Amino acid sequence: MPKIKMEPKFLTSLLTLLLLLGLFFSISDATFTNEDATRKTMEEFSGYPTDSHHSILSSFSVQSEELQGQAKELSTLSDSPSPSVTRILYSEKDVLARRFIKGIMKQAGLSVREDAVGNIYGRWDGSEQGLPVVATGSHIDAIPFSGKYDGVVGVLGAIEAINVLRRSGFQPKRPLEVIMFTSEEPTRFGISCLGSRLLAGSETLVNTLKKAADAQNVSFFDAATSAGYNLGPDDLSNLVLEEGSYSAFVELHIEQGPLLEEEGLSIGIVTAIAAPASIKVEFEGNGGHAGAVLMPKRNDAGLAAAELALAVERHVLESGSIDTVGTVGILELHPGAINSIPSKSHIEIDIRDIDEKRRNGVIEKVHQSAINIAKNRGVTLSEFNIINQDPPASSDKAVIDAMEFATKQLNLSHKFMISRAYHDSLFMARKSPMGMIFIPCYKGYSHKPEEYASTEDISNGVKVLALTLAKLSLE
Ligand code: GLV
Ligand code: MN
Ligand code: MN
Repeated sequence: MPKIKMEPKFLTSLLTLLLLLGLFFSISDATFTNEDATRKTMEEFSGYPTDSHHSILSSFSVQSEELQGQAKELSTLSDSPSPSVTRILYSEKDVLARRFIKGIMKQAGLSVREDAVGNIYGRWDGSEQGLPVVATGSHIDAIPFSGKYDGVVGVLGAIEAINVLRRSGFQPKRPLEVIMFTSEEPTRFGISCLGSRLLAGSETLVNTLKKAADAQNVSFFDAATSAGYNLGPDDLSNLVLEEGSYSAFVELHIEQGPLLEEEGLSIGIVTAIAAPASIKVEFEGNGGHAGAVLMPKRNDAGLAAAELALAVERHVLESGSIDTVGTVGILELHPGAINSIPSKSHIEIDIRDIDEKRRNGVIEKVHQSAINIAKNRGVTLSEFNIINQDPPASSDKAVIDAMEFATKQLNLSHKFMISRAYHDSLFMARKSPMGMIFIPCYKGYSHKPEEYASTEDISNGVKVLALTLAKLSLE
């Protein structure tokens, strides 16, 4: 008989495929106790029949009602009334929410640790020692008066994806890790993706944080201490991830836009994340009495801010692309009395685009407008501070392939899409191959209390995530 010689690479691929097929078509919950199932070796999985009558859905069960219940419970840890959610970094509610997440990570059998700024990691060891980690996760902080699902789906969903894999009897080869990132939202200290930015390494951010204070003048370090994180400046620099420590990072998130729902699709496979920037601007004038100072004598810092807000809109529209967006979400006037001409104004501007060069062009125009407005109105442009001007990030081909594979195996409709919102994935992409899974949300609503994702959509997202993690962990 002729001997067939197989390349080791081919053998590995074959084994991987068999293992995944084994995973898909095998195990019903009743077959094993969870305890036994987690000890099943990958070789045992490969022995399961692959006839297509065994639906993957029968072995992949998501406890989605429970997950919705957890999202609801988490939403009660809020500083604004239901249905809105407000959960600000290192606040009392944030500390309670962190405790809640650590609790369910432990229930899922993960070994939990926290780093100096409170990024929380729950790890499931792989069967082979020393391999880079496959990670997933998101955030649970919530901007003022927002909703229940932004970030939360990607944390609770990630833990449930681990539960799904455990229940199915899967054993990862590479470690699987769930990460809950500290402060994806910029609310308290004006810096977005604080935890993941530090993991990616940013000396600028480390220096900014040394001086950072919130609106009540509480320093970053004091706020961290009040939440139980006694960190010093050196701890911030030490957070940066070692090159190659993660082989993949996948984030599950609500779309925060209307496309999936409008097109009746279940899953969005994100190919790139748009480039965000944020800018703080201050104007100063003489202020004065609202009745006594005549119009020609005024240098109104409030009107300078209002004019700049309109200039932002104009410059964004001038780009001619639907992908360029700009928002003035904060406009504060001092002293803030109806009968006092504003002597100081503070505005914060968010500008994004999928084209970094075009986004930067808009920023330059806004800067020029701020200078001109100050000159024309006789006010001082006392600050024009670009807080962050981040490049976009692309998803990794192998991670995209794994997400698409999972979506197809689960018979779910999908499309490839761009994330216009930023996410911790933008920064994890600097240290790891990255990908994101989107699920539809009601009317695309996000960053407002009406935000909603259905149990079925969350369940689909969790299944796709679970299968993607399984595939990546065996590669
Ligand atoms: C995230 O919250 C964003 O503003 O894109
Ligand atoms: Mn958000
Ligand atoms: Mn988010």
